Amino acid sequence: MMKLENIIDLRSDTVTRPSAEMRRAMHAAEVGDDVYGEDRLMNELQNRVADMLGKEAGLFIPSGTMSNQLAIRSHTQPGDEVICEYNSHIFNYEGGGPALLSGVQLHPLLGEFGILEPGQIAETLRPTDHHYAQSHLITLENTHNRAGGVVYPLTMIELIAEYAQKHQLLMHLDGARLMNAVIATGIDPIAYAEPFDSVSLCLSKGLGAPIGSVLVGSADFIDRAHRFRKLFGGGMRQVGSLAAAGLYALANQVERLADDHRRAQELAETCLDLGCLENDLAWTQTNIVILTFPKSNAAEIEAQFKNEGLLVSVVSDRRIRLVTHLDFGDEQLTIAKETLKKVLG
Ligand SMILES: Cc1ncc(COP(=O)(O)O)c(C=O)c1O
Repeated sequence: MMKLENIIDLRSDTVTRPSAEMRRAMHAAEVGDDVYGEDRLMNELQNRVADMLGKEAGLFIPSGTMSNQLAIRSHTQPGDEVICEYNSHIFNYEGGGPALLSGVQLHPLLGEFGILEPGQIAETLRPTDHHYAQSHLITLENTHNRAGGVVYPLTMIELIAEYAQKHQLLMHLDGARLMNAVIATGIDPIAYAEPFDSVSLCLSKGLGAPIGSVLVGSADFIDRAHRFRKLFGGGMRQVGSLAAAGLYALANQVERLADDHRRAQELAETCLDLGCLENDLAWTQTNIVILTFPKSNAAEIEAQFKNEGLLVSVVSDRRIRLVTHLDFGDEQLTIAKETLKKVLG
């Protein structure tokens, strides 16, 4: 039986544990009742993220899923249509929430590496005839998880936003890993957020906090989202220690995402040598590596990795995902590369 500390977990960047320093910050946090708006650190975190993304206001949400769902609920009316990408988190992994929680229908379009083009959206837009649901919102994902952490080109986002504005469509960004895009490209987070009416940023992915996302947008939008957060049962009380973790992550764990990207690139190189990298190296742009196999045996390969102490995610019967993160250092990188060679060589 492998000792727990020897297991290397690359299933997701959500598996990280708060460091001793982060725990100290959480322990020392002053707290207040956030439903009364009296948790000072939470107010600070919400304002910090709103400022960082150039928006008027922010709201702490327990999860990225809830944050996306609150954005959809706050931007739409039942019966509206939401245009999204076929492999997006919102369409695949949020339990059908848009239908249940917002009464909207999703219209998924297949992007290349998760990237949509304005022409595709133009073809999709419904006429204002009574037969049709009315398109009201476009959601994009940056970086794109299922596409393998691909960065959305800013020029493409801006073209889509231009089209959206012309046709009175709102724009929401699932920016669960937006800071990975920022670190990979050097583009200012405000520039990435500017074309969107709302952005959801996760603190609990690469940034390494134990919980939380912050949804940002105009003051009016956040006011609506705040009401729906309460209605969905997400009003929280003494959350200062969670805010302290988020503030610590933003102050100390953003720049280091570059290390995750370097290690993912090294894993991708090994996979390329082994003939199982899904795409060429240029598509491993951040902290996610996707492996593809000729046969439908991803689950068997996952089990072999597990026997060797390497945990990975099966994303389809022929694909496996590896995600680097702050609890995965250079020593573990060396071991992980050896394990890949042993199992796949
Ligand atoms: C792109 C993207 N959006 C949203 C989420 C949802 O985040 P959570 O697990 O906090 O609900 C994830 C989770 O991995 C994600 O990858």
